[in-house]
Amino acid sequence: MIIQGRHIGVDARITVCYKKLNRPAGLKNFYPTPNPKEYDMLPEFFEFFNPTKVIYQAGVTSDLKPELELIGITRYFVISDQPIHDLGLVKRVTDGLESAGIEITGMYLDVTQDAVLNNVKKCADAISASGAEGIVAIGGGSVIDTAKAANILFSEGGDLVEDYSGANMLTRPLKPLVVFPTTAGTGSEVTKVAVIYDSENKEKLAFPDKYLLPNLAVLDPELTLSLPPKMTAATGMDALTHAVEAYVGIEASPISDAFAIGAIELVMKHLVAATENGNDVEARGGMLIAATMAGISFSHSMCGCVHGMAHTCGAHFRVPHGVANGILLPCGMEYNFEEIKEKLARLAPVMGEDISGLDEEAAARKAIAAVRNLIDNLNRLGALPNRLRDAGVPEDGLETIAEGALNDGTSFYNPRPVEAEELLPYIRNYY
Ligand SMILES: [Fe+2]
Repeated sequence: MIIQGRHIGVDARITVCYKKLNRPAGLKNFYPTPNPKEYDMLPEFFEFFNPTKVIYQAGVTSDLKPELELIGITRYFVISDQPIHDLGLVKRVTDGLESAGIEITGMYLDVTQDAVLNNVKKCADAISASGAEGIVAIGGGSVIDTAKAANILFSEGGDLVEDYSGANMLTRPLKPLVVFPTTAGTGSEVTKVAVIYDSENKEKLAFPDKYLLPNLAVLDPELTLSLPPKMTAATGMDALTHAVEAYVGIEASPISDAFAIGAIELVMKHLVAATENGNDVEARGGMLIAATMAGISFSHSMCGCVHGMAHTCGAHFRVPHGVANGILLPCGMEYNFEEIKEKLARLAPVMGEDISGLDEEAAARKAIAAVRNLIDNLNRLGALPNRLRDAGVPEDGLETIAEGALNDGTSFYNPRPVEAEELLPYIRNYY
């Protein structure tokens, strides 16, 4: 792990050597510059770039001809994983593609739970050998990230680590990439980063580049109907955490705020229903849109200490990412409270809370209460632990979590400076 660096707004514990950042000349915020805390003050600088076309409709997977014609190629290689294949989702998508006149030149179904470096190379070789002109990814974040990284090698050749480590190393658009998310959480369908695990050196590598943004993200809620309740709750809480951390983060802008607020409203409305009844297409749709909007928001405004703690929970205690975020989101809101209470007060009504007659501080507390209430509802459904002890964290591991949050790349972006000793008492409250 390179310490001297900056976080690139990815969903993992990543830093990238700052010397390798090829930022265009003239951009002021080479290092994060806190944007004003007061909501009505405009930031001095921000950028927003999201060229991925997003389409949404239940069942749209079988009606993609017009969109695919716009991209203009006919030979696609499919990347997914075995569980998604076994659920019949790969066939569902390829049937839709073939009915739109697309030829499937081959498939790679060996993506593992983490996107792994070795798989990227094998996958890219298979794509090239198949004669494909573009890539289709069907799955969650690991599948989509594998497809993004494989597209670098497929389009440009070379060695991923040797030639593309760092940020913004690509100089031109890659071959077309069409993604079909089958979970509602990571937002990888609209983020510019591929996170790849180097199992030999046991580190996660980030490849942030605007040319990794997919050409088309197909949001078809029918592809998420089979997601089990625990996965639904955990990935949904990941999406909510992306949105809340992006909204209160120091690089938030009016545009990232708009996406964050939209995502938060949708999660609060639909997550319990989607968890309770997996076949509720409207709730599934709401969550899929929420995850994508949250992805756009945190891809621009970054995440904070909740993700820092969650990354450590995952690395040391194997707590699933969304579960750790779900337990610790109110913890992070409390730790940052003095810095973010104006924005939390604005979030409370978005979360369905009545704040009439309340002062700013009381309204802000209502936002935290709303998140805790959501967690308790998911807990009552047996879909989400609400304490770290129930997620397999040992009591003597709490200091490790606080230290990990301090050393995580996300600490650059947390509204309140992350100090392990100061954070620890807040974490204890969630043990
Ligand atoms: Fe996340």
